[in-house]
Amino acid sequence: MKRQNIVHLTQTALMTAILIVLGMIPGIPLGFIPVPIVLQNMGVMMAGEILGPKEGTTSVALLLLLVAVGFPFLTGGSGGIAVFAGPTGGYLLAWLFAPLLIGSLRQHFGSRWSWWQEFLMIVLAGVLFIDITGSLWLSWQSHIKLTAALMSNLAFIPGDLIKAGVAVAVARQLRRVPVLNLG
Ligand code: BTN
Repeated sequence: MKRQNIVHLTQTALMTAILIVLGMIPGIPLGFIPVPIVLQNMGVMMAGEILGPKEGTTSVALLLLLVAVGFPFLTGGSGGIAVFAGPTGGYLLAWLFAPLLIGSLRQHFGSRWSWWQEFLMIVLAGVLFIDITGSLWLSWQSHIKLTAALMSNLAFIPGDLIKAGVAVAVARQLRRVPVLNLG
């Protein structure tokens, strides 16, 4: 196996491990919707930001695959195929596509982005995309009005903006380490 492939494999597995560790941090229940505030979505943003579309998506897909076969790797120890049909199914689906979106946007347009431009991209592709997809599913699955689902998701925005800022800051620092070859 080529050295580059081994590096990519290791980076992907490491990112999946980070996602699992973030899932061990307890969520904060909101009470008015069956979706907690979690830290794991910061790992999803980081996956796209740090590893790019291919490895980023693979690392999140691996997490979701492990969850689907029953490993309790989501926040609060949930796992199993049923979670994908539950109230948070839309967020989980969006988690799969967010690294593809984030990584592709950065790869194609972002080589000279400032911190703020990169932050704005993550807010669109890693916060709004996930929260809107999650709200659409939540509205349908839990029979909540779409406007109510969208409004209740506003509760996630302050925390999600902080997570986006951390993801950008960490990614930009890591890219400055030449040996990691993150581009
Ligand atoms: C799960 O553990 O089943 C998925 C939880 C999804 C939580 C979403 S991700 C986007 C938004 N921000 C949060 O902090 N929570 C929700």
